[in-house]
Amino acid sequence: MDPNECYKELYCDGGTLAEYALAQSLKQDLWMWYPHFGSSVFSLDLDQVLSLCPMLETINNIAKIKHAIVTNMTPNDYYKLHIDETAGPRINMLLKSQNSFSAFIDVNNNKTVHMNYQPNKLYIFNTQVPHTIFNFEGDRYLFSIEFEEHKSVLPYRGFVKRLRREEKLTGSLSLIH
Ligand SMILES: [Fe+2]
Repeated sequence: MDPNECYKELYCDGGTLAEYALAQSLKQDLWMWYPHFGSSVFSLDLDQVLSLCPMLETINNIAKIKHAIVTNMTPNDYYKLHIDETAGPRINMLLKSQNSFSAFIDVNNNKTVHMNYQPNKLYIFNTQVPHTIFNFEGDRYLFSIEFEEHKSVLPYRGFVKRLRREEKLTGSLSLIH
């Protein structure tokens, strides 16, 4: 499996955004979370998210962002192997994890790629490669962005191409590592 077809690291420091998103998650009332495939989800204020991370503002002009959410998994939660229904790429950042992992899997060839989230780093995540999550200990919080455009219009590769084109056009912009 080619890791580049699974995920790409964005060229920005998500520290301020991560701090905000985690603080919001921890103070959120229980009723604000809605269930989603065994995990819980709540929406962040998109304007606030964009103001805390200027790169996402730029990306929002290239591909319209639908919403920014946080997903929470509790100890021993498992998210089965799947591909996302409507999304092509997402932008993800792990906010908090004690002992969990996320992996892409090629079931036909028995291969895997570890989605090795680094702190305060944002990644373009290809939701069309089968992926899964195991959470063994502690609460796991993940920041995630979904785009307006359906995966048929905005696939992962097409999205990466759009960002590369923007980098070329401006000459000074670095979006993807
Ligand atoms: Fe997914």
